[in-house]
Amino acid sequence: MSAVWDRAYQSDNAFFGEEPSSFATLCLKHMKSSNAKRVLEIGAGHGRDTMFFASNGLEVEALDYSSRGIEIINKKADEKKLPVKSQLFDAKRPLPIKDACFDAAYSHMLLNMRFSQAELHSVFSEIRRVLKPNGLNYFSVRNHNDQFHGAGVEVEEGVYDVNGFEVRFFSEKEILDVISKECFKVLWMREE
Ligand SMILES: C[S@@+](CC[C@H](N)C(=O)[O-])C[C@H]1O[C@@H](n2cnc3c(N)ncnc32)[C@H](O)[C@@H]1O
Repeated sequence: MSAVWDRAYQSDNAFFGEEPSSFATLCLKHMKSSNAKRVLEIGAGHGRDTMFFASNGLEVEALDYSSRGIEIINKKADEKKLPVKSQLFDAKRPLPIKDACFDAAYSHMLLNMRFSQAELHSVFSEIRRVLKPNGLNYFSVRNHNDQFHGAGVEVEEGVYDVNGFEVRFFSEKEILDVISKECFKVLWMREE
């Protein structure tokens, strides 16, 4: 499905805008107060949040399975001379990263893409593996109060095709289940 995202970023290399997401703004404050320095971003898109973190003193490794997204990230990071390393990568595979080397992992609207329950657990478990002890895992997903919940055609249990994008909508319980089974502790949770 990276073709869908390649097309989106091909048609507009700032598909999600140039400004950081409000989620990134919230997370940066928490990362700073937790003294995080190295961040792994998964599903970085065209890098609006990647550039924001890197411009604010974090070292960022950005992964996405859209080659167009990665191209845009590399170009922006080069132009701005920011400490960003990027890699084309499908998050359904084990992370190409050694154990315990990141202070934080970050993903905005990645885990509500088409991942089976088993794949979701595997992503969380991989994130836990590459985080340092007491590392932070910031993520956002669409939930049942989302404007698009209930729209589209079901393509896999709990996953809907909404305007060509395959999306899962989580209940609070589903979010808490995956977190606790993968041994993460919830520090805070907000609805936007
Ligand atoms: C909703 S977009 C969010 C992009 C970015 N986080 C942002 O907020 O600007 C989801 C991103 O996840 C990426 N993605 C979806 N499934 C993926 C997978 N299995 N592995 C890696 N990236 C994936 C897409 O290419 C897309 O860039």
